[in-house]
Amino acid sequence: MQILSITSGKGGVGKTSIVCNLAARFGQLGKSVLLIDADLGLANVDIIMGVTPKATLEQLFRGEKTLAEILTPGPPGVTVLPSGSGVKELTHLSDEQVMHLMQALEELDQQFDILLVDTGAGIGKNVLDFNAAAQDVLVVTNPEPTSITDAYAIIKVLARDHGVRRFKLIVNSVRSPKVARDVYRTITTVADRHMSDVPGLNIEFLGHVMYDENVSLAVLDRKLLVIGRPDSRASLCIADLADRLLEESGDRPMTGNMQFFWKRLLQQPQA
Ligand SMILES: Nc1ncnc2c1ncn2[C@@H]1O[C@H](COP(=O)(O)OP(=O)(O)OP(=O)(O)O)[C@@H](O)[C@H]1O
Ligand SMILES: [Mg+2]
Repeated sequence: MQILSITSGKGGVGKTSIVCNLAARFGQLGKSVLLIDADLGLANVDIIMGVTPKATLEQLFRGEKTLAEILTPGPPGVTVLPSGSGVKELTHLSDEQVMHLMQALEELDQQFDILLVDTGAGIGKNVLDFNAAAQDVLVVTNPEPTSITDAYAIIKVLARDHGVRRFKLIVNSVRSPKVARDVYRTITTVADRHMSDVPGLNIEFLGHVMYDENVSLAVLDRKLLVIGRPDSRASLCIADLADRLLEESGDRPMTGNMQFFWKRLLQQPQA
């Protein structure tokens, strides 16, 4: 199982749009995907995905619902774990609740090929915890200077304080692929200068997504971009990102699995 979280320094740069469409694209390619909405801000995976959660994590913790009742089917191949107010409690659970959740999650391991986590922006504890628990962190930025600076800042915090080593940069809303490469170069130049002491740090360029009004139009017509507008420029970019991620997953053994992810998440030190 491949475990990827998606984050950004600055909000509103396109994380949720990208992660929902990546999930649907993986589904189109025959993969089985679990998408966790861990964004505590505007929890909008369900809106972009067009799913209606029937229960929340909170109800699981209270023992009122089973995990199966919370998992919500999305587009073909995709299952959504909606956030609701329960997500912020994930890192503040009692030992008993952790045991309960771990047992429920154990059976999911076999079911999914890819786990995607939409974590929200910035350096809140919850965002950091989810990213620290993933194998690879997809960092989204757009070409604006403030967004680039904040992307670098989140990479720095995750690498320095949370032991994250592998980052994959996605530059969204670009007018040309060259702009995206330039953004990547800016970030790695600063990282080379200021983070060369971090062993094993790897910031890779995953790719770009073109600026494309079809991204927001797809939300209006309540059909995911890659499903309803598969030939749009942004859809084709997302398909490329999905291909690259799958290629890479073939390159190395799948060391982490779902249980490791949850253990790492649930065992983060309390704030
Ligand atoms: N490639 C793109 N081209 C045009 N518009 C885009 C593109 N990507 C995202 N958008 C638009 O930008 C807005 C923000 O996108 P989105 O909600 O995915 O960002 P986010 O990073 O998840 O935000 P938040 O930090 O609030 O969770 C949306 O209106 C979306 O339609
Ligand atoms: Mg979002």
